[in-house]
Formats: sequence, C-alpha cells, structure tokens
Amino acid sequence: MFRRFHSIAYCPQSGYSGRMNTTDKTTLLITCARGLSEMLRAEVEALGFTVQASHDTGVELAGDMADAMRLNLHLRTAFNVLYLLAEFPCRTPDQLYREVSKLPWEDIIPSNEYLCVVGRIDTPSIDNTMYPNLKIKDAIVDRILKKTGARPDSGKERTHVVVQAYWKGDRCWIYLNTSGQKVSDRNYRKLPVAAPLRESLAAAIILTTGYDGSQPLVCPMCGSGTLAIEAALIASRRAPGLMRDNFSFMHTKLYDADLWQQMRTEAGKQHKKRGKAEYRPSRIIATDLDPTAVEAARRNAMTAGVEHLIEFAACDFADTEIPDGGGIIVMNPEYGMRLGELDELKVLYARIGDFFKQKCAGYIGYVFTGNYELAKKVGLRTSRRIPFFNGSIECRLLKYEMYAGTRKQKETKDTPDSTD
Ligand SMILES: C[S@@+](CC[C@H](N)C(=O)[O-])C[C@H]1O[C@@H](n2cnc3c(N)ncnc32)[C@H](O)[C@@H]1O
Repeated sequence: MFRRFHSIAYCPQSGYSGRMNTTDKTTLLITCARGLSEMLRAEVEALGFTVQASHDTGVELAGDMADAMRLNLHLRTAFNVLYLLAEFPCRTPDQLYREVSKLPWEDIIPSNEYLCVVGRIDTPSIDNTMYPNLKIKDAIVDRILKKTGARPDSGKERTHVVVQAYWKGDRCWIYLNTSGQKVSDRNYRKLPVAAPLRESLAAAIILTTGYDGSQPLVCPMCGSGTLAIEAALIASRRAPGLMRDNFSFMHTKLYDADLWQQMRTEAGKQHKKRGKAEYRPSRIIATDLDPTAVEAARRNAMTAGVEHLIEFAACDFADTEIPDGGGIIVMNPEYGMRLGELDELKVLYARIGDFFKQKCAGYIGYVFTGNYELAKKVGLRTSRRIPFFNGSIECRLLKYEMYAGTRKQKETKDTPDSTD
C-alpha cells in the first residue's frame, strides 16, 4: 500500500474532529490501469499538484474536495479519484462496523440518496469478500438513520454515492469514490465496435507519442475512433469531464455546485480558445476497412464534440491519405487471440511494415499490439517498445521512425527486439 501522510481523515488515535470540512486537505488516491501511473503523475503535475507517492496502479497527493472535482474534470488517464475519509487498524468485521460507524456520515451522504459500497479485501480472516462491504454499508445507513430518522437506499449501481474500502492485512482505508463510474468512461462511445480500446488507454497512447496537435495524426484501423477522438480532445484542450454530467461527488453533501460550474466554465474557455482558427490542430485522419466502424467512429466523435476536427474515410489502411511533411501514425491492429486468425494477421502485420516503408517517409509510426510474434512480422527496426496493459494483456506500443530522404528505415528480418 502507499506511504501515508498527514490528512484530516479520521484516525482512532486522534478521533474525528467535528463536522466534515471540505477545504481541509486529505489524501487523494487516484487510481489508473496497471503501468499508467507515470503518465498519470505527469498529468496531475501538469495541473499544478504535487504527487506524494506513486504506485503501479495509482498516485497519491494531498487535496480537498475542490481538488478532487478538478481532477475528475481534467484527467485523461485516470480511473477514479478517491477521497480518504478514514484509516484505522482492523482485524474483524465487527471492528470494521464500529470504526465506520464513528464517521459523520450524516454530514457526507444525504439520507434520501443511493449508496454503493465497493471494496478490495485482502485479509486472512475474511473468505467472503462481500461481507465487509455489507458491514460497511450497514454501519453507514444505521448511523444516518440514527442521526436523521431516514436512511439512503443501497445497491450495486455506481451512479450515485460510492464508498470504497481497502482492507489489507490488519489495516483498513475508507474512501469516498468521487468519480463513481470511471473517469475513463467518457460517455461518447454510443455505438459498439469490436475490441475498442479503453479511452484512458487510448489517451495514454496518444500522450506517449508526444502528440500536441501541431502535426498531422493518422489513425488507420480506427475502429470506433477512440485514438483519433482522444487525440482531437488533447489537441483542442477539451477537458474530458466536460462530457459527463454525473460524478459521484455531486450526490454528496460535500459538493459545491457553484464551484463546479465555475470550473466547467473555465475549462470550456480554454477549449473555446483552442477552437479558434489560429489554434486549430493539424489534420487528424481516421480510416477503417469496415464502413460500419467508420460510421460509428464519426458518430462517437460527434458525441465527443470533435467531429469537425477529424477526417473519416472507409478504406484499406494502405490507401489512407498520408499528408506531406511528416507526422504521427498510430495503428491498433487486431492481435488475434483465436486460433486460425494468426496466419491472416501475419500477412496484415507484414503489410503494415510495407505501408510504413513505402508511404510514410518522414513519419513516426506506432503499432499497439499484444502479440510479439505478429509484431515481428512488421519487419522494421523499432526505436522504442513501450509496455502497456490492455486489461490483463501485456501489450507494447512499438515505435518506428521512417526517415525522409536518404536515411531510410532499416529493414530487419523478424528482429524488432534488436534495438532496445
Ligand atoms: C482492434 S480494432 C481497433 C479498435 C480501435 N482502436 C478502437 O478503439 O475502437 C482493429 C480495426 O482494424 C480494422 N481493420 C482490419 N483490417 C484492416 C485493413 N486491412 N485496413 C483497414 N482497417 C482494417 C478492423 O475493421 C478493426 O476496426
């Protein structure tokens, strides 16, 4: 678990000091997919925060509820923003109930709200991991009932108040999950397409390429358009949280609606400024062989408010228009987990190598894949192989530099591992 530092959160030695004060600092734990915490750290620091601790699946900082709201609005690579309420030693479910009951839940959750408790339990005395969640839920609603005469409903939906617990060994942390549904669920993908990338992963891939909108970006094999849409959002400085009208923090008593509106207006101004002609990003081109995917991508881009920044076309990737003067190409071909697909995919990956060599001089090409055998079929020298996780699948973002003029990409036979 993370190193902890001073916080306002309840701890049994000092007790809880009066009403919840949303302007005092507590620990904010921001979670992310495995392997993305360095990228998340950079994002958090770019917003002016100081990261206190980093882990494979998250970062920690000191912050208040306003900070948590701001992070929910702006972060691209995060899953959830968690606001620490309490940390205490805990050995049994009864002790858990007692400690959780001490928190001033009546100051946090309106009695007419809906509550969902989720937890990660890793303690030897507990087999049924649902049981602690039930104890926490009981402790919260019993306390609110006692103090106010009414109690919130509870269930599995993460659309209202979400309380999140980590119980590891003999220590327990209770957080308010201020996001509810993951920050990475941006709500723009309305039409399903096979094997879409999670939005936070797509954003991390685009940020890794160093893309900032100043050069052309080409996404052949765009599928539902996630990479192109995230790129357009980055280029136009559109805060991803502007696309959502529901976060868990809005359902708590710690929510300041005026402040949230102010933050949204401020973020909107930045975006509008970038929308002006002089700031317009260079061309973003998204294509796919499947016309249904292209239509889905176009509609998703429309929902995300960036359709005007992306040029769509249905074609084989090799026929995608490559603007003159260099830029970035990002491809996410299938990587065939089913038997029988591999032979076809080997041919496809070899064609990607030919496409890079023959049509993409002056570009930096990236291939995101979870299959190293297929990656070798590209047959070009990688200048970097950046590890990522797509769910539980270990993947790589392979970087190929196609020099213009005489410094051609060196061709290697099945040895993308040879350079790094
Ligand atoms: C893994 S999916 C991409 C998913 C995408 N990154 C997303 O987030 O939705 C691979 C895509 O490659 C497309 N594709 C396969 N062969 C192609 C080809 N020869 N030319 C262009 N697109 C192709 C498929 O139609 C599919 O949409």
